[in-house]
Amino acid sequence: MKTPFAQRRRALLAEIAQAKLDHLLVTKPANLYYLTGFEGDAGALVVSRARVTLVTDGRFQAQAREEASDIRVVLQRGSLISSVGALLHSLGSQRAGFDPNQLTVAQLEAFGKASGPRCRWIPAPGFAEKLRMRKEAAELDQMRRAGILAGKVLESVLTMLKPGVREIEIGAEIDYQMRRRGASGPAFETIVAFGKRSALPHARPTAKQLRKNELVVLDLGAILGHYCSDITRTIFVGRAPARIRRCYEAVLEAQGAAIAAVEEGATCEGVDAAARKVLAGYRLDRYFVHSTGHGLGLEVHEDPRVARGQKQRLKPGNVITVEPGVYVAGVGGIRIEDDVAVHADRTEVITRVPRDFIEL
Ligand code: GLY
Ligand code: MN
Repeated sequence: MKTPFAQRRRALLAEIAQAKLDHLLVTKPANLYYLTGFEGDAGALVVSRARVTLVTDGRFQAQAREEASDIRVVLQRGSLISSVGALLHSLGSQRAGFDPNQLTVAQLEAFGKASGPRCRWIPAPGFAEKLRMRKEAAELDQMRRAGILAGKVLESVLTMLKPGVREIEIGAEIDYQMRRRGASGPAFETIVAFGKRSALPHARPTAKQLRKNELVVLDLGAILGHYCSDITRTIFVGRAPARIRRCYEAVLEAQGAAIAAVEEGATCEGVDAAARKVLAGYRLDRYFVHSTGHGLGLEVHEDPRVARGQKQRLKPGNVITVEPGVYVAGVGGIRIEDDVAVHADRTEVITRVPRDFIEL
């Protein structure tokens, strides 16, 4: 079976050459998977111009040889750091890139010692992440499946939203439904917030019971075949007062404007501004306390960031969330979130749950 990993490593090697590096150290598990197919959560990949080596420990020996079958797998002797150091030493060392976002100061120091004086460690942030921003067709397919799964789970728990149910019960049911439907797990800690607690954008489910006439924010994501989804819907249990309804319409309009602004060449800050402008028209912009969205893929938060000051331009293959919200402390919050793929000729919303205001 043809796998995408060798092609990705070739693209990475081009980046490595351009940065005049001889080696790149990769340690983040999402990047190990992206570049090799290895699903273990411990190990390091040394991508060198001459060869690519995965270093891991005995727990992952069989797994690494099977999953990363087209590269050299070396079992570590002693610590991972000393093994990588010895490998670099044997390769003649020189300029080794590392991601400063992934290593602690102590780890970098230890790598420095282990690799010897001929190795110069050069900061090389986000090399694999840059490639990961442009999703391949098969990745997009997988993300569509993850998005649809999350939507089905969200819709399946709506019938449970009855007065008396607790946030933790809904959270547990969501996580259970994800796994029942094939997900390997939630992409982040599922958010369930009732009433005033919905004003906390990242509320953890508690024992709070749902009461009539309360808002409910459900924010969940599934990991399916390694890829994440992320969806939020806000529901009112009862008949919503006019001001809540107006607020919902404002957030929906802001989300629509931001999605309409998504296209090849648009800046991320432009997409963010489109949402903020609508909310400003309703004098609600000061209650929108986070960025409009984030890239999505093997990790739930990845590049590009859809926020103020992000001049980066969207490209085909980018997948981002669009999730404006309004949060009024002591009252409640409303957020609507969908996942959006950028194509050369269109924008595709890959989460498929209606966005009309739901009153239960
Ligand atoms: N949906 C959770 C987050 O984006 O942080
Ligand atoms: Mn999100």
